[in-house]
Amino acid sequence: MTTPTPISFLAYAHEDLPVTSRKIVVFVTEDGKMDQGCRKVNTLTRKTVARVADSAAFEKAKAGDVTSIAMPVGLAAEALLVVKLPRRPTSTEARKAGANLAKLLGKDGMLVIAGSTYRVEEIAQGIAMRNYSYDAHKTAEPKETGDVSFMVNDPDAAAAVYAPIAAIVEGVFFTRDLTNAPANDLTTTSFADQLAAMADIGLQVEVLEEADLEKLGMGSLLCVGQGSDSPSKVVVMQWNGGGDEAPFALVGKGVVFDTGGISLKPGAGMEDMTMDMGGAGVVSGVMKTLALRKAKANVVGLVGIVENMPSGNAVRPGDVVTSMKGDTIEVINTDAEGRLVLADVLWYTQERFAPVGMINLATLTGAMLVALGHENAGVFSNSDDLSGAFIKAAGEEGEGAWRMPMSPAYDALIKSRIADMKNVGGRMAGSITAAQFLKRFVKDDVPWCHLDIAGTASVKSETALAPAGATGWGVMALNRLIADKYEG
Ligand code: BES
Ligand code: MN
Ligand code: ZN
Repeated sequence: MTTPTPISFLAYAHEDLPVTSRKIVVFVTEDGKMDQGCRKVNTLTRKTVARVADSAAFEKAKAGDVTSIAMPVGLAAEALLVVKLPRRPTSTEARKAGANLAKLLGKDGMLVIAGSTYRVEEIAQGIAMRNYSYDAHKTAEPKETGDVSFMVNDPDAAAAVYAPIAAIVEGVFFTRDLTNAPANDLTTTSFADQLAAMADIGLQVEVLEEADLEKLGMGSLLCVGQGSDSPSKVVVMQWNGGGDEAPFALVGKGVVFDTGGISLKPGAGMEDMTMDMGGAGVVSGVMKTLALRKAKANVVGLVGIVENMPSGNAVRPGDVVTSMKGDTIEVINTDAEGRLVLADVLWYTQERFAPVGMINLATLTGAMLVALGHENAGVFSNSDDLSGAFIKAAGEEGEGAWRMPMSPAYDALIKSRIADMKNVGGRMAGSITAAQFLKRFVKDDVPWCHLDIAGTASVKSETALAPAGATGWGVMALNRLIADKYEG
């Protein structure tokens, strides 16, 4: 797995400032205020910091912007980085400052003179989150980056606040690595193996194989993978950090590659469908975070892992399959496979765990991109309470999430002549009919959200805290939701 930047917190030590070879970072407020350590650097550099703060460029700079001075006078450091930051930055501003610093992180690392800078742990989080690069398949040695040390007034307090954040970064990196991986690397088997390996950090993990899924009657999920040589699997991850209460459940779509099946997708851009396990990737990342920070909650994470391929035994358009719930489904379009996978995993999750609430994540519909682009995931729900809590958590983490409508009126679109329902509803309201389909596999008394992350799981250009590619969208929001709602 890609290793996050090591972050440490040290006591402030005057004498280290002129001798360190690492880049030195200081913070200045918009009205030029410096704290003790920054003033010391200003003195050592014969007022370089003050000159930066007095400049027209600094006046124009936004919160979190960085001015880099190479080979500063009076310091052994290779560069002096002056960050413009309000005295009480918002979470977004603090993380943005960190993300900006991450891009300047050289191989020798940084010494950040933070003193009592507000939200220093979130500045660190911004550095760690943005300093990510998926190098698993590059033969050249990846660009090395050094550690980051923060000199602060209370190192123990800062380290204690950062510990659960480090767990979040690990979870996000796990999600990104899984979602970025090509399908010949991340096969259904290697995906399940990587999840099974999380037993090492205290998760209880079970892998249900095809024979098990057949016994359970998961005809809907199984039909998706039947054209692939890679076996379909369901992985169950349990974190029991709470009492004896029923768990909260996360469910993910894990299509390691989506060719569309017999309803084959067009060639252009098909390679992007390596990210079609993004929902399962987020569930896996959240479970990792919960285990690493020893969350005081009971949470189960279930993922349906399949590959959607055309072949002589692939499911055909017009085939009728029977779900674990017992409802029959006419498969009109084999490319609407995600809902077929989720139908059975959602049902199994409720039958086995009777969860207090359930959120599923899936790169489910291209129509979601048409509706909300890359900025927001669609939130479909039967519960104002759960969806409201999720959207609030997502907002606090800077992860876009927007409620979408559901209503029985859309059900007419997925009526089948020969089965209980069909798996597509035509061109109109494509994301909503997909959600209506999923809802048929959710019990009325279970608060539930479906998050369609087709637009947010992986993007072509960099975002606030991630380079182009897999974002890890949702790990932070779900972790916060669980912390706020289910951990005392
Ligand atoms: N995995 C795709 C949806 C998708 C598209 C995710 C683009 C990320 C980016 C899904 O399985 C799919 O193919 N959906 C179809 C549904 C249609 C056949 C009703 C779609 O969106 O075209
Ligand atoms: Mn598809
Ligand atoms: Zn798909």
